[in-house]
Amino acid sequence: MKPAHVAIIMDGNGRWAEARGLPRRAGHRAGVEALRKAVRSVGELGVDWLTVYAFSSENWSRPRSEVNDLMGLLRLFIRRDLAELHQNGVRVRIVGDRENLEPDIKSLLLEAENLTAQNTAMNLVIAFNYGARDEILRAAKSLMRKVQSGEMEIDAVDFDTFGNHLDTAGIPDPDLIIRTSGEQRLSNFLLWQAAYAEFVFLPCHWPDFGREDLETAIATFSARERRFGGVGAREAAL
Ligand code: FPP
Repeated sequence: MKPAHVAIIMDGNGRWAEARGLPRRAGHRAGVEALRKAVRSVGELGVDWLTVYAFSSENWSRPRSEVNDLMGLLRLFIRRDLAELHQNGVRVRIVGDRENLEPDIKSLLLEAENLTAQNTAMNLVIAFNYGARDEILRAAKSLMRKVQSGEMEIDAVDFDTFGNHLDTAGIPDPDLIIRTSGEQRLSNFLLWQAAYAEFVFLPCHWPDFGREDLETAIATFSARERRFGGVGAREAAL
C-alpha cells in the first residue's frame, strides 16, 4: 500500500555545504530547491499529504545569522512559490507556534493558508517554529482551560478531542516518516501523530534528496507489514 501521508525531517543541509566548502546558508538554499522537487514528486506519485520539518522550536539556539537565513528562506519560498503551488491545487497549512514570529512572516503564513484553503489536489504542511512537546503542552493547556471554565467535562477528553486541539487538527497521522542524513531520531517532530508511523532513514543529505529516494522510501514502506498493535495477517489466519 502507498502511504497517504509522508512526513520528512529534512536533515543534512549544513553537512552538504561543509562537504563542498560552502557556507551553511548555501546548504539551506539548496535544501529549498530539494523541497520544491519533493513537493512535485510527492504530487506525481499520488501521495495526498506531505509534511516537512522546516524550522524547529529548538532551531532558535543556532547562530543569529543562520536563524535569519532560515527566516529569509521561508519568506522567499512563500513569495516565490505560493502562486505556483496554488495553480497546482496544493493546499498549504502551517503547524507550529506562530506567536513569536515576525509580523510579516505571520501574515505570509496566513496568506498562504487562506489563498490555498479550497485546493484539493495535494496538501503541503510546513512545520515552522514547531516542537511536538510544545504543541502537546499548548493542546493540554487549551483543554484544561475548557474544563476549568466548565465548557468541557474532563471525562469527555479522549484521543479524538485531544488530537483536535493539536496544530495538526484535521490532518491525518503520517504513515511514513523519512529522515535524511543518516541520523535516526525524531527530534521533537510529530510525537503524538507518529504513534504508528513507519520510519525510513536515508543516508543522503537533504539537498541531494530526489525522486528516486522518495520512491525507495515508499517501496520500503510498502514492503512492511503494519499491525497497529494487533497481529499480522499470517498470524491471524493460524
Ligand atoms: C537541517 O539541516 C535542516 C534544517 C534545520 C532546516 C530545513 C530547512 C530547509 C530545507 C530550507 C528551509 C525551507 C524553508 C521552507 C524555510 P542542518 O542544518 O541541521 O544540517 P546539519 O545537521 O548537516 O548541520
